[in-house]
Amino acid sequence: MCGIVAYVGQQDALPIIIKGLKRLEYRGYDSAGVALLNPNGLTVYKKKGKVSELENHLLSQENLLSKIGIGHTRWATHGEPNDVNAHPHYSSNDQFAMIHNGIIENYDVLKTDLINKGYKFHSETDSEVFIKFIEDIYANNDCSLEEAVRLALHKVVGAYAIVLMNKEEPDTLIAARKGSPLVIGVGDNEYFLASDATPIIEYTNQVVYLDDYEIAVIRDGKLQIKTIENVETNPYINQLEMELEAIEKGGYEHFMLKEINEQPRSIADCMRGRLDAQNGRLVLGGLRDYMNKFQNADRIIITACGTSWHAGLVAEYLFEEFARIPVEVEYASEFRYRNPVLSDKDFIIAISQSGETADTLAAIELAKSKGATIFGVCNVVGSSIPRTTHAGSYTHAGPEIGVASTKAFTAQISVLTMMALKLGYKRGTLPENRYMQLLSELETIPSKVERALKMNDKIHEIAKEYKDARNFLYLGRGYNFPVALEGALKLKEISYIHAEGYPAAEMKHGPIALIDEEMPVVFIATKDSSYEKVVSNIQEVKARKGKIIAVVTEGDTVVKNMADHVIEIPATEEAFVPLISVIPLQQLSYHIAVMRGCNVDQPRNLAKSVTVE
Ligand code: F6R
Repeated sequence: MCGIVAYVGQQDALPIIIKGLKRLEYRGYDSAGVALLNPNGLTVYKKKGKVSELENHLLSQENLLSKIGIGHTRWATHGEPNDVNAHPHYSSNDQFAMIHNGIIENYDVLKTDLINKGYKFHSETDSEVFIKFIEDIYANNDCSLEEAVRLALHKVVGAYAIVLMNKEEPDTLIAARKGSPLVIGVGDNEYFLASDATPIIEYTNQVVYLDDYEIAVIRDGKLQIKTIENVETNPYINQLEMELEAIEKGGYEHFMLKEINEQPRSIADCMRGRLDAQNGRLVLGGLRDYMNKFQNADRIIITACGTSWHAGLVAEYLFEEFARIPVEVEYASEFRYRNPVLSDKDFIIAISQSGETADTLAAIELAKSKGATIFGVCNVVGSSIPRTTHAGSYTHAGPEIGVASTKAFTAQISVLTMMALKLGYKRGTLPENRYMQLLSELETIPSKVERALKMNDKIHEIAKEYKDARNFLYLGRGYNFPVALEGALKLKEISYIHAEGYPAAEMKHGPIALIDEEMPVVFIATKDSSYEKVVSNIQEVKARKGKIIAVVTEGDTVVKNMADHVIEIPATEEAFVPLISVIPLQQLSYHIAVMRGCNVDQPRNLAKSVTVE
């Protein structure tokens, strides 16, 4: 949450920062601001709303030429979204300006102390407290700004990625992180700092990922990194493999639509080099060193949030069916606070698109402290979770910019499916001939997803009919139960229609009371082991005049006669159905949200990367 960008070098900083903020807008879009430094001084410009509002505001400003600058796009935590609470924040004497992503938990105590010393506060933010706390240390210790930052970091509690500018040092940026991401792009005598690599990729593919408790000082064209204990470290330069086109809309109206349509390729990318069905090979490099632990685990615990948690639920079915190891799927936010019973015989799988989700990171730390082995399934290369876990597999879905997760979900399930098949085979719970059969079918999934996407026009028509509904129910059983949850989440987060997902059989224990002629019910009724039961559930809804939209297997004739609308998807192995059945649900929520005039890529109140508790 919150995106930060900074630049120092020979180019005009402002266009670089504005472009970077637009790329990071998925992290928060409540307000935006920049600070620039030139012979006219250190000036902060900030505005409530999107980066485009800030751009409009800057049109009427002068003296914007600067070779150094910092910028911020905010997802509000402390204080409502307005101009004053927007970043950057100044120190009292306007000598320093700072951008901050994260939360300072002890800001109240620090603020009281600073007020007692005579400091005045204009905003309600913890970030203004943070910069004034640094300022106070600077003023009282006769030290450099860098040293004041270092001393302050020993006292603040919470999460931060910060970048500071000093009016007296026009060639210097000071940055630090703990818990919130910060990437430094190394150009030719110039540096780009950002919350992720997307604002950087256009200028350089050499990056340094700052670690927790590290402070970076870029001065006079040189980068120096020290720990907060003042020990110098050697910056490790990584090569970025991201392509610029992957972070652009490529002719689509929305990133979400592009990402939905990319799924045949993203699933194939995820399997590429790992799955070779013809030769019965399934290789997950990240698992190699931990296969023994995985195979002999007493229990698999999957922890994640939101859509990633839904992927975890699918994995529960997969691991239990193929590998016969008990699985628990935990909301990271609950797991971390309930003193779970854990041991070194537990194998933990943490799933996260962004690799930065604060609750998931905290759950990992907790499990690690109890001796468990942690395996990450993440999309963003170099993000915090892959760097904290013992091992992991990237999903290789490419950058996901739309706030609603789509292609990351199917890529997560693809990795988890490969893990479950491999584990089942190694443990002998999945016989070789069945294993080979499943590998062959898995290889066909990208083309079946391609076929499923062709129902788009029909789904567009269905969306027209239901766009004004006030509530929706999503029902599925077995592997399609998590898909029902995911379909409901997609609809509510981008269209603001209330939607609930349930196991279809649970309907009669309560939700059936909601059904009348106004209630659209989406059934995922593919031909699988619970098909007959789901058909009975459809009858129950029909008897109460509910409107039925059913996702069925191609060629189904039974449900066709009962449902108001059917959406056909290709047949596959029951265990692989979620990879296909989720596609029409993503399309349905997308079309409904567009028809309702909602901002599909940046839904209200949400942010792509949830780096606060
Ligand atoms: C929903 C969505 C969120 C995320 C959740 C976890 O479309 O995107 O529910 O799935 O915030 O995020 P990651 O996967 O980045 O840990």
